[in-house]
Order: sequence, then structure tokens, then C-alpha cells
Amino acid sequence: MTDDTPTTTVSVTINGEEYVRETEDRRLLVHFLREEVGLTGTHQGCVVGKCGACTVLHNGVPKKSCMLYAAAVDEDEITTVEGLAKRAEMNGVAMKTREGTTFHPLQMGFKQNHGLQCGFCTPGFLMTATALLRENPDPTREEIKSAISGNICRCTGYTSIVDSIEWAAARLREDEPAVADGGIDSTPCEGCNCEIADDVEGNDE
Ligand code: FES
Ligand code: FES
Repeated sequence: MTDDTPTTTVSVTINGEEYVRETEDRRLLVHFLREEVGLTGTHQGCVVGKCGACTVLHNGVPKKSCMLYAAAVDEDEITTVEGLAKRAEMNGVAMKTREGTTFHPLQMGFKQNHGLQCGFCTPGFLMTATALLRENPDPTREEIKSAISGNICRCTGYTSIVDSIEWAAARLREDEPAVADGGIDSTPCEGCNCEIADDVEGNDE
């Protein structure tokens, strides 16, 4: 930043905490989050609004943070992937892994259903799905596909991502976990040492 670079003082609540920063007027929100606030869970992909990796909730609405200037969110609320577990705890829906990590049910859903491979796209999918399940707690697979149509994944082929969101939706509704249509059962495979079923606290059988 040079002395004559136009700047704005931005006061923004991110994951429940207030941050005040003087930032360049042209600073994109994705860069503000990653470089000025240190929240690197929001990923920078295309930076032209195409991939969805940078998706955050802006006043509860999913937005691509490469399409917003930081100065435009002054006095607003942002939720990033780092705030998901805390949000779940506040809502009484948090889940814990056997190792004691607190997850939002969507994060657990992605873990249980192999909803990620490299994980680059995952924060964006999680934020988009968070907004979807708040608006529509029982989405059809077609509705899930429509909601995530602005997020690109180069690894998974999407089926496991839809499974993951469906699984989380069922957990949030306190239904049985969704296992149909390509989803995985939580029963460990016979003869295999995977511990998928053990990942969820209380699932000790
Ligand atoms: S980095 Fe924002 S949409 Fe790709
Ligand atoms: S898991 Fe690699 S891009 Fe989606």
C-alpha cells in the first residue's frame, strides 16, 4: 500500500468477532479474510466468480468473496468455514469425532461420505450447503445439485458431495442418516480396518 492508495476503515463481524482494519478500497474480501484477518480457510481459486472456492456467508447469504470488496461489507456479518463448528455448537447440533474435534454436521457429513479428496473446494461447498439447509432442511438431491451448481470440484465427481449434504440434512432433522443412492453406510466394511463408524462420538458399537 502506498501513501496515496485510497483506503477505508472496515469494521466487520467475522464468525462472531469484530475486526477493524484499514484496508485498500480495492481489496477483495477473499484477500482481506486470508491476508489481513488470517482466516485462510476461505480459498482463493479463480478470483473471477466461477469456482465458488471462496464462498462465505455475507449476512447469512452465500456470496463469492472474490466478487466483493472488503469495504462493501463494513458493519456486516461474515461467516467463514472457521466459524461453522462454533455456529453448530451455539445451535446445539455440533458433532465430535473420536479424536475430540468439534464439527458442524456438514463437516462430519463430508468426512463420513468421502465428500472431499484434495479439499480445495470444500470450504466453499460447506458454506453453500449451510445456507441451503437453513432455507430447506429436507432438500431433494436435485435441489442440492441446483444449490451447489456455482461450486466446482475437480476431484470427486460430485456424487459424494451430494451424499454428504444429504447425510448432514438427515442428521440435522434427527432422521436416520441418509445412505441411499450412492451414499455409504456407517457400518465398517467387513475385513477392512476403516473406522468410519467410530468417527462419530457415541457410535461405539
Ligand atoms: S475464487 Fe471466487 S469464485 Fe473462484
Ligand atoms: S476435492 Fe479437490 S477440488 Fe473438490
